[in-house]
Amino acid sequence: MVHSRFGALQKCCTYDTDLAHDALTKQLPRDPLSRRRHGWAFCGLLIDTSSLFDIQVSRSRIHVVLAFYSAYPKTSIPQRPIMLAIQGASGKLGYATLSALLEHDLISPSEITVTSSSDAGAAKLKSAIDKGVKLVSADWDTPASWETAFKGAGKLFLISSARIDKDFGDAPYGQGREADHFPALEAAKKVGVKHVYYTSLAFANPSKSRVMKAHERTEEYLQREWPGKFTIIREGLYNESWPLYFGHFDVPNDSRDEVITGGDGPISWTSIPDLGLANALILAAPSSEWANKTFYLSQRQSHPLKDVAGMVSKARGKQVAYKAVSRQEHEKFYVQERGMPEAMITWWSKSYDALRDNECEIDDPTLERLLATKGVKPTPMEETVAEMLKK
Ligand SMILES: NC(=O)c1ccc[n+]([C@@H]2O[C@H](COP(=O)([O-])OP(=O)(O)OC[C@H]3O[C@@H](n4cnc5c(N)ncnc54)[C@H](OP(=O)(O)O)[C@@H]3O)[C@@H](O)[C@H]2O)c1
Repeated sequence: MVHSRFGALQKCCTYDTDLAHDALTKQLPRDPLSRRRHGWAFCGLLIDTSSLFDIQVSRSRIHVVLAFYSAYPKTSIPQRPIMLAIQGASGKLGYATLSALLEHDLISPSEITVTSSSDAGAAKLKSAIDKGVKLVSADWDTPASWETAFKGAGKLFLISSARIDKDFGDAPYGQGREADHFPALEAAKKVGVKHVYYTSLAFANPSKSRVMKAHERTEEYLQREWPGKFTIIREGLYNESWPLYFGHFDVPNDSRDEVITGGDGPISWTSIPDLGLANALILAAPSSEWANKTFYLSQRQSHPLKDVAGMVSKARGKQVAYKAVSRQEHEKFYVQERGMPEAMITWWSKSYDALRDNECEIDDPTLERLLATKGVKPTPMEETVAEMLKK
């Protein structure tokens, strides 16, 4: 018993010698007599007990201290903090997650590194940096920059690349957005990141949509190639992204009386701040709690686009009709009549096939359970639509 404890503590100490030393110095009884009383029974088995009688805690005698420490089963040796790297922290999802981490004191700012590839991103992150968060410049186009950015991190929050044009034209394997993700993951592997949390999307896998393709490939990479722990978080479709699904609605200038889309189906819309808080709680929890899990973060309440039309009509104070048409009609209308880029429209329109198949109606309690721990209820879709259309 004593030996096995000693072994465990010794192992801890290999990594945390300074911290253990500081903690033990504070916790040991001050006078030599009580030190002797507490330490005797345990240390006799392990070391020359005479050295305990006048024990002076020092780094060179840390093993003596550790043997002594096993007399205090209720105390624990502090671990060196696990650094968290947030890639893409200035984006909508990354910023909501970082904000929740700081607002709820879930991780100390000094234990967070964020990355940005732009001056605008760095400027957005300034208030976090002022609090002690570390900023490192890194870019999908310079894979070596990820090594610098992730060095020293135990956990990595890898937010999927937003460079959707890489996916257009049915990009073959390795050339879609996964071409951004794979080198970043290879860099993380090289510098010894232990746990990757990857933000996938709340469609099925495999999906009929094309928007999911890079996520499918990255999820598969993590399952096949990643040597450490990983967590795949299929992030709910943002409440705030309804204009994209609802006929590329132009907020606030769209004056259409009728909107058409290539299909409809229930969507478990989820607000960005709610996703940020749920992500933050996952990242702050012990690694083992979420290791090697794949799950959704979505509200369970779903709304089809037909309902969204009703919410838009209400917020606008005028009827906006809605019609689901075929995917081909959708593509023709948005490319030929509204002059939108064909590559984007044909890539996007396959999302409606997924909606028709109910891929986006999610029944996973994880998000609601996590928010409840902070007394938060998911933001209703209607509230977000009204807010976005407020004059
Ligand atoms: N769940 C949903 O409904 C939903 C909706 C929309 C999008 N998404 C997807 O979710 C992911 C995150 O979306 P988001 O909403 O946070 O996107 P976003 O707000 O557009 O943020 C994009 C991020 O990418 C970073 N970035 C831009 N160029 C970069 C480069 N060359 N190298 C490295 N980083 C670069 C930007 O930061 P810096 O400029 O600071 O580098 C920014 O942090 C994306 O994959 C997006 O497609 C999900």
